[in-house]
Amino acid sequence: MEERLQKILARAGVASRRAAETAITQGRVSVNGHTVTELGTKADAARDDIRVDGARVQAPAAPVYLLLNKPKGYVSTRQDPQRRPTVMELVPAVAGLFPVGRLDITTEGLLLLTNDGAFAERVTHPRYEVPRVYHAKVHKVPDAETLERLRRGVRVEGEQLTVDRVRVLEAENNAWLELTLHEGKKHEVRRLLEAVGHPVSKLRRVGIGPLSSRGLKPGEFRSLTPSEVKGLIDPKGGHVKTVAPAPARRPHPPRRPPNRPPGDKSASRDHRASRERRPSDHRPSDHRSSDKRSSDKRSSDNRRPAAGDRRPPRGRPPRGRPPRGRT
Ligand code: URA
Repeated sequence: MEERLQKILARAGVASRRAAETAITQGRVSVNGHTVTELGTKADAARDDIRVDGARVQAPAAPVYLLLNKPKGYVSTRQDPQRRPTVMELVPAVAGLFPVGRLDITTEGLLLLTNDGAFAERVTHPRYEVPRVYHAKVHKVPDAETLERLRRGVRVEGEQLTVDRVRVLEAENNAWLELTLHEGKKHEVRRLLEAVGHPVSKLRRVGIGPLSSRGLKPGEFRSLTPSEVKGLIDPKGGHVKTVAPAPARRPHPPRRPPNRPPGDKSASRDHRASRERRPSDHRPSDHRSSDKRSSDKRSSDNRRPAAGDRRPPRGRPPRGRPPRGRT
């Protein structure tokens, strides 16, 4: 099958699509002995002799798209010089498979893996604004002004970090927050929250574009469906739909109801139990209800956000090379 050269090179894992385009225009790519510099040139990877800098390009393997719920303690690289466990140990050994972006070793949650370089490029590039949703447990409870600062953006170590949305899911001595970001800068959630005085003690990625962690326990993976792949690539060039946000929980009521006698511990026991059920905990009994909840919600995805839920609209980021360390 004939395809554009840059697509073949990206799928073969030789380079990102953009790097492949550069290699073509620089005259480093040849097809059947002829140097190609035209970006629209097509070739058939199974039939033609395609070379980059003289090295033969293997026909790309069938594309594979996996969604892993990464447990804590695994690094999201193919190999680790420090010999720590890597996410590659949790998925089948597929030639050319690599993680799309990064999660910190102590972060749990959704991570895509693929052998399709063009797909990875598309999903991680800030220009396409694929939203990532995180649940973060933070020290203390941020006030409204702090949430507003996060939406406006905070300068951290010379870099502007911003959230698209943030809200409090649970608030007590500490809080669980839901944050949506789309840029994928290194350690962005931890750095942002640390910078506003609320360091993160637990972090989970619970959504990537239309994908949610529902039904996937830490350590489990599944293949994406063709429509999920399409939804992430979003060929119409519009915005991908986000996962339905978790319903906000009201802050817990006071620890002891007013009419409970002092010394009666049952209130704090109840309370502890409810605290231990975190919004993204994966319990079989939760799946049905959360499925229903999110399908109910999905239909209202395009609703107007609640006042103060989103940061103000901003211009699209400029085209160009992606920043390093995208997640
Ligand atoms: N932001 C972080 O700080 N860490 C992650 O693992 C992902 C996003």
